[in-house]
Amino acid sequence: MVGRLAGRFVGLGITGSIAAFKAVDLLRLLRAEGADVQVLMTPSATRFVAPLTLAALSRRHVDAEVLDLLPDGRIGHVLTADAADAVVVAPATAHWLGAMAHGLAADVVTATCLATAAPVVVAPAMDGDMYAHPATQANVAILRDRFGYAIVEPESGALASGQLGPGRLADLGTIVDAVVAAIGDRPVRRPDPADRPPRLAGAAAARLARDGDDLAGRHVVVTAGGTAEPIDPVRFIGNRSTGTMGVAVAEAARDRGARVTLVAGMVTVPLPDEVEVVRAETATAMREALHGLLGTPGGGPGFDVLVMAAAVADFRPAAPADRKLPRTEAGLRLELVANPDILAEIGRVVRGLDEAGAAAGRPFRPRPVLVGFAAETGSLARAADKLARKRVDLLVANDVAEEGSGFGTPTNRVTILAAGGAEEALPLLAKREVAERILDRVVAALDARDAAAQTGPDEPPQETSVP
Ligand code: C5P
Repeated sequence: MVGRLAGRFVGLGITGSIAAFKAVDLLRLLRAEGADVQVLMTPSATRFVAPLTLAALSRRHVDAEVLDLLPDGRIGHVLTADAADAVVVAPATAHWLGAMAHGLAADVVTATCLATAAPVVVAPAMDGDMYAHPATQANVAILRDRFGYAIVEPESGALASGQLGPGRLADLGTIVDAVVAAIGDRPVRRPDPADRPPRLAGAAAARLARDGDDLAGRHVVVTAGGTAEPIDPVRFIGNRSTGTMGVAVAEAARDRGARVTLVAGMVTVPLPDEVEVVRAETATAMREALHGLLGTPGGGPGFDVLVMAAAVADFRPAAPADRKLPRTEAGLRLELVANPDILAEIGRVVRGLDEAGAAAGRPFRPRPVLVGFAAETGSLARAADKLARKRVDLLVANDVAEEGSGFGTPTNRVTILAAGGAEEALPLLAKREVAERILDRVVAALDARDAAAQTGPDEPPQETSVP
C-alpha cells in the first residue's frame, strides 16, 4: 500500500511543550504514510523527549543545534528547508509562535521555517489561558494570515495544568491530514536523497536500531517460565522452563524503549529491573492476568505486543486437594484436565472470532502483534501448524533436545516462522541475541500494522514476512 506521503520529505519541528512526547507517535504516523522525515528540535524540546528515540525512528540525526554543521560542512536546517515538501511544527509553544511571528531564528525550527519555500503546518499546544492571551492569538494570526501557514487548532480537553479547555495538541491524524492537504499535488521538491540531509546508514543505523528506542511508546507483554499446576498445597506438576528466554526478551524490549510487563510463572533466574512484574504461577492465573492486560476492542490499556515465552502446562490436576495428600503404599492416581491454550484464545479474541473461527465480536484496532514459542523435540514440522492454529504473527520454534538449545541453557538455536510463510533458521546464539532478532521482526510487524491502519479500514496485514 502506498502512503499519502510516499516520496515526500517532511521536516518535523518539535518545541518544548509537554505534548512533545506525542511527536514520537506523530513521527511514526508520518513514516507510516511513507514520508522521509528530518526531526528538528528546539533545545527545550530535547528535555521532554530523547533525540535518540527520534533518531532511531527517523533514521536520521536529529537537528537541534542551530550552529551545528553536517559532517560534510553543509548547514543542516538550510538543507532541510530547501528540500522539504512540508514543515510541520507540532507541538508549537507560545514562545515559539512569538519567535516565529517575529522572525527570531535562534533555534533550528524557526530557522528552517524562515528559510523554506515549502508549506508550513503549525499545531500549537499549551495551557488554555496562554493560548487565549491576545499576544498568542496575535502571533497565531500573523502565522496564518501573513505567512500563510496552516494552523491546526488545539483541541479542548484536560490540560497538564489541570485546566479544562482549549490548548491540547490536535489529534495526530488531523495533523497528518493537514500535512497531506498542505502539500496537495505539488511536485516532490528534491527527490534525490543527495539533496536531503544524510540518512544514517550501515553500522550507525544498526546501532541505533539496537541501542535506540525503536520500541518507545509500545507496551510489550512477555510471559516467562513454567507453570506449576497444584496437586495439593505443597506439590505441583511443573516443567523444566527457567524463564531465561522470556526474561531476555523482556530485558531487550525494555532496553529498546518499550514499557514492559513481565507475566512471570515459575522463574528461577533473576527478574529484570524496570519492568512491571505480574506473578502468575498457574495456567489459569496466567490466562486471567493476560485477559486483564488485553483491554477492550475499542481501546483500553491493552498492549501492542505479546511474546508468549512461558511453558504453559497443557494439563492440570482436575481436583487439587486442599490439604497435603498423605503418602500411601497404594500410590496415587491423578486425573488431569486440559488447560486452555491461552495464546490460541488471545489469537481469536483479538480478531473477534469465536472458538469455531466465526466472527463473533469486534476485532481489536490496532491488533496486537502476537509471538508464540514452540518447544519441540525432533522435527520442527509441527511449528507451522501451531503458527496457523494459534493465529500468531511469529512463531519461534526450537529443538529443546538439541545440546545448547532449550531449557536452562544460555543459548538457543531457533527458527523464526512468520505468518506469511517465511522461515528463518538462526544459528546457535545467546538468548539475548535471539531476543533481539525476534524484536527486530516485531518492530517490522508493528510498523506494517501502523502503516495499514493509516491507509485503509481493512484488517491489518495478517502476513508478516521475515525481512
Ligand atoms: O502447543 P504448544 O504448547 O507447543 O504451544 C506453545 C506456545 O503456546 C507457547 O508460546 C506457549 O506459551 C503457548 N501456550 C499457551 N497456552 C497453553 C499452552 C501453550 O498459551 N495452554
